[in-house]
Amino acid sequence: MTLVIAMDGPSGSGKSSVSKGVARALGLRYLDTGAMYRAMTWWMLREGVPLDDQAGIAARAGEPVLVSGTDPAAPTITVDDVDVSGPIRGSEVTGAVSAVAAVPAVRERLVALQREIIGTGGIVVEGRDIGTAVAPDAQVKIYLTASAEARAQRRNAELSGATIAATQADLARRDRLDSTRKVDPLAQAADAIELDTTSLGLDEVIEEVLRIARKHT
Ligand code: C5P
Repeated sequence: MTLVIAMDGPSGSGKSSVSKGVARALGLRYLDTGAMYRAMTWWMLREGVPLDDQAGIAARAGEPVLVSGTDPAAPTITVDDVDVSGPIRGSEVTGAVSAVAAVPAVRERLVALQREIIGTGGIVVEGRDIGTAVAPDAQVKIYLTASAEARAQRRNAELSGATIAATQADLARRDRLDSTRKVDPLAQAADAIELDTTSLGLDEVIEEVLRIARKHT
């Protein structure tokens, strides 16, 4: 298997920017698994499936056709041929995604799709359960963390509008749901290298990951 870099961590830890930067530097593909859970959630909302109806979500999890682009310069995602790259970042999907991602049938379907895309490797994959469940054989596993304040500040710099306190509360809510669900919760793999990015700039984090990748390959 060629190189797989698993990039896990809580919301707002910088996974997307770092993963894309690393993929570009190494000429690898890039997969945003969070976007897949968001796209599934967008589809459930559009279909009017109630978020507290786990059985209803499970029954329909096989229906939407999801296509994930893997170009780190312009990652896109379509659901039933609709480009949802923009709408999946909205507050409605962000508020609902952890409930949908906790449904085992949803995870089963998306993990199978993710493994298909990973194929024989050559890819940076970001998510919550990549090193523990999706690609436990990945040669490089990184677990990105940052203080709650730093994560909220970064998120607000990306999507202005909310107060830092409101963003911090939302990230904390999602992290709690993501790390306490029964199937494949957010967790650091035993063999993952933890990188605290609180006081590091993006380029410094990318450099550090590249250094780790060189050591492990
Ligand atoms: O990374 P992002 O914030 O876009 O992920 C959105 C949500 O998707 C997370 O809060 C989590 O509920 C879910 N997710 C997951 N497993 C992954 C990636 C994301 O459960 N591998």
